[in-house]
Amino acid sequence: MNVVILLGPPGAGKGTVAEVLVDQGCRHISTGQLLRDEIAKGSVLGLEAKKLIDQGQFVPDETVVGMIRDLLQSSDFTGDFLFDGFPRTIAQAEKLDELMKHTDGTISNVILLDCPNEVIVERLSGRRTCKKCGTVYHLAYNPPRTENQCDADGCQLIQRPDDKAETIRKRLEVYVEQTEPLIHYYEAQGLITRVNAAQTIEEVRNSVLEKFGAVKS
Ligand code: AP5
Ligand code: MG
Repeated sequence: MNVVILLGPPGAGKGTVAEVLVDQGCRHISTGQLLRDEIAKGSVLGLEAKKLIDQGQFVPDETVVGMIRDLLQSSDFTGDFLFDGFPRTIAQAEKLDELMKHTDGTISNVILLDCPNEVIVERLSGRRTCKKCGTVYHLAYNPPRTENQCDADGCQLIQRPDDKAETIRKRLEVYVEQTEPLIHYYEAQGLITRVNAAQTIEEVRNSVLEKFGAVKS
């Protein structure tokens, strides 16, 4: 089992760029999306997670590690897994290392999307997401063909509750405190590939494809 990690601040474009890697045969696992699915189902886990997510806080490490463990152990997928938004703390990264040992897996690459805060705020405030399938749009940079309707299934587009200005600020703080230390953690293992995410969607996709292809071969 091969794992590629997409690392970067909220709104850097992890979900958007993931699409090109999925086209390359990766299975996209976004812990944020898994949690939103739980919220939509109204499960106990989802209700607990919602309180934290809406305040811009992380859900507990055990919760996300448990979700990833269940998923890896139940999967017979043989290609690369693309983790988007996991791990997000040093404790999660250490647990993932343990999981990799037990499943004979390898982390082959950590793609770091570098993006300044002012760009992030603009991206998150203009983001719209399909209520049903989670496809991501931007009012200016990646608008749907028909206003407020998902291109894929025609469902209504909504603004994520954690994309309010004050919650965005909190998420950025939490990223610096809890997730940025992972850059050093993976740099020490020689796994980081940096990508300038403050370019157009097309340019970021091309940079990732170029570098990912080069690193993977
Ligand atoms: P999650 O859903 O992972 O949110 P996030 O990390 O904050 O990242 P986002 O999904 O907001 O942004 P993105 O980088 O995917 O950007 P996108 O492609 O959408 O997690 C949500 C919450 O769940 C967390 O805050 C936490 O509470 C919890 N959680 C999740 N995982 C957890 C974990 N492991 N541990 C603990 N808690 C966890 O792009 C953003 C916008 O910009 C879009 O509108 C897009 O169209 C646009 N855009 C993208 N790229 C470009 C570009 N190059 N140019 C112009 N516009 C662009
Ligand atoms: Mg995302």
